[in-house]
Amino acid sequence: MKAPSSVAELPVASWARGLGPSAIQDMLQKITRPGVYSLALGLPAAELFPKEGMAEAAARVLAEEGQALQYSATLEPLREQVVALMAKRGVRCSPEQVFLTTGAQQGMNLLARLLLEPGRSVLLEDRVYSGFQQVLAPYDVRRVPVRRDARTGLDLDGMEALLAAGERPALFYTMSDGHNPLGTSLAREARERLAGLAREYRMPVIEDDAYGFLHYEEGGAIAPVKALESEWVFYVGSFSKILAPALRVGWVVVPEWMVFRLATVKEASDIDTTTFPQRMVLAFLQSGLLEGHLATLRREYRLRRDTLLKALETQLPAGATWTTPTSGMFVWVELPEGLDSTVLLSRALETQQVAYLPGQAFAVKGGRSASHGLRLNFSACAPERITEAVRRLGAVLRAG
Ligand SMILES: Cc1ncc(COP(=O)(O)O)c(C=O)c1O
Repeated sequence: MKAPSSVAELPVASWARGLGPSAIQDMLQKITRPGVYSLALGLPAAELFPKEGMAEAAARVLAEEGQALQYSATLEPLREQVVALMAKRGVRCSPEQVFLTTGAQQGMNLLARLLLEPGRSVLLEDRVYSGFQQVLAPYDVRRVPVRRDARTGLDLDGMEALLAAGERPALFYTMSDGHNPLGTSLAREARERLAGLAREYRMPVIEDDAYGFLHYEEGGAIAPVKALESEWVFYVGSFSKILAPALRVGWVVVPEWMVFRLATVKEASDIDTTTFPQRMVLAFLQSGLLEGHLATLRREYRLRRDTLLKALETQLPAGATWTTPTSGMFVWVELPEGLDSTVLLSRALETQQVAYLPGQAFAVKGGRSASHGLRLNFSACAPERITEAVRRLGAVLRAG
């Protein structure tokens, strides 16, 4: 049989013809080369995974639960544990409002399936987690950017003006804490105003809290928008960054009417594939190990963040600015006028074997350029390697 000679001939849906490898897939290949210093991906520190606790949890599940490897209905006690976790984030909810997912990514995917219709608009911060733009790819929706600036935060005046002018988005996607890629968190007043706008304009908000439990300031983090508005805010959580991403266990907190709809859509996608890891997570939580593990992660990531920030002070060219994250795993750098982070990345890899993610990977299609921005991760490298990585990065950026 003759192979298709052009993309237009590929026997796939038209939206899929233009698909290429994502910035993350592309980067994974580049950084697995030996000797590369990577500040590129949002990986948790592998050496901090609670392997012993997880091994005990897995052994206990296999020894004690006859149905551990069987298809199964939702794991009620894990939903109860999630309710207790949410209370620590300042969110009150019931187990009936918790839906367990195969990671946060699936949570967002299922919510999008329920909320989106052709022709509708979607509000997106103009620097946005690339994985959410991937979720949107199959849908014929209009992406409307709302400015989220590293310094001034979320442009709620702009959002209100859009809504007041009649824009009725199918959803707004946001991250209140440890924003990916900006590393910033929303101020309390911004959360209150956003909750008010969601209520007033009946605007569904997907609040992605993948990094919300990783906060580094005394006194903890501010409660998410979900704590202020429970009907219109759909909260997405994950064990990926606080336990291990390979477990693929996450959750959403939504109004009860949405839960069985999510279950039906999930069944069409992957039945209930992660029930064994879910049981492991449950056993780990029941053994009371999470609090201590979170304390370790916060202490170690705070040290890595501080190491990165200190190195940036001495290595970056004059005119560069960057964010100081209070949560999460990322620092966003803005380069002086005229420097393009996508162009500089190949030079960084070739001459200094150092990697980062260029800002353009997070720009909204059709929105303002992010080519002078770049995202640096501080969770995955030991402090000495961070210092060396930034020394190498500085050499590339100063040479421009
Ligand atoms: C902002 C954000 N949301 C969601 C995810 C996906 O999380 P999960 O592993 O739980 O699917 C990631 C992963 O890096 C992320 O950065």
